[in-house]
Amino acid sequence: MPHLFDPLPLRGITLRNRIAVSPMCEYSSTDGFPTDWHLVHLGSRAVGGAGLVLTEAAAVAAEGRISPQDLGIYCDEHIEPLRRITRFIDEQGAVAGIQLAHAGRKASTARPWEGKNAVSVENGGWRPVVGPSALTFDDGYLLPEPLSEDGISQVIQDFAQAARRAADAGFRVAELHAAHGYLLHEFLSPLSNQRTDRYGGSFENRTRILRETVEAVRGVWPEQFPLFVRLSATDWTEGGWDIAQSVELSRMLKPLGVDLIDTSTGGNVPHAKIPVGPGYQVPFAEQIKRDAEVLTGAVGMITDPHQADGIIRKGQADLVLLARELLRDPYWPRRAAKELGAEIAAPVQYGRAW
Ligand SMILES: Cc1cc2nc3c(=O)[nH]c(=O)nc-3n(C[C@H](O)[C@H](O)[C@H](O)COP(=O)(O)O)c2cc1C
Repeated sequence: MPHLFDPLPLRGITLRNRIAVSPMCEYSSTDGFPTDWHLVHLGSRAVGGAGLVLTEAAAVAAEGRISPQDLGIYCDEHIEPLRRITRFIDEQGAVAGIQLAHAGRKASTARPWEGKNAVSVENGGWRPVVGPSALTFDDGYLLPEPLSEDGISQVIQDFAQAARRAADAGFRVAELHAAHGYLLHEFLSPLSNQRTDRYGGSFENRTRILRETVEAVRGVWPEQFPLFVRLSATDWTEGGWDIAQSVELSRMLKPLGVDLIDTSTGGNVPHAKIPVGPGYQVPFAEQIKRDAEVLTGAVGMITDPHQADGIIRKGQADLVLLARELLRDPYWPRRAAKELGAEIAAPVQYGRAW
């Protein structure tokens, strides 16, 4: 079995180790443009030794942003400043990846430190927000307008156009965000999707938008570059999306060209009871890997080097994604290597310290 510091080959690229920076919204953009903050935030984690550095959710359409300050990849002008970031990440020996997202019914909300309620149009918000059905997420969120079939086709095209821009900007991994109660997840779950057309009702219908998005993205995303999908493996709620459906869907996504299922949970139901604890989502990554025979990423309260290494060695997942622990310590991969007795190269500038 491989270990945490074994390279991970994926199509035509190789990650130098099994550690990824999990997507983390920074809410630091204007009109979707990345800033110096993104260069330093993502760049320092590449210097820190991660194999894969994924951006935060980058909106594929302006109205698909969570907040007015979200990162975007919805116009060609976004490409050049993103290229500056991917170039730097590449120079550090890491692979730059981008998470492509549409916020659906959770769009036009304030960034967390400004209250998380709907943002008015005067304050940079927008109307309408869209979703599969006219069901709000929670108090303080907007009532979404159900997407027409033409609207769905537009969203799928938006994802494909964003993927084309991402390749142009130098990203070598793309991840579709189909988790955490955002648009694609909203279609998957019967709790948020009550449509009666071919995008709602049966499992086949609820998964259609994601399968069509994968096909459209694969049509433009270079063959040699891997494509990930982030799923919420369960809504943690009776009658919602669950692990059995996640396994079934993952089985269908693999032949469409998906290389890895990044396995998270929750986010579509505001008050779900989630048994949060160290590695609490790992069993879902393990089950999808085993039952759908696809590579998986494990995420959620992975903080300890031996814990992370154990997940890879036991074959529970192929990649670990860390979010908050990499905020606390961008050099976590270097610390983990030291603790596990692995050798990793340091930037020449820092060579005397390691
Ligand atoms: C500040 C912050 C922003 C986040 N933004 C995103 C995001 O843009 N996309 C996403 O899929 N998950 C996002 N997440 C969730 C993380 O990627 C990760 O799944 C979660 O924090 C659990 O991992 P951890 O215990 O290592 O923090 C965010 C988490 C944090 C803390």
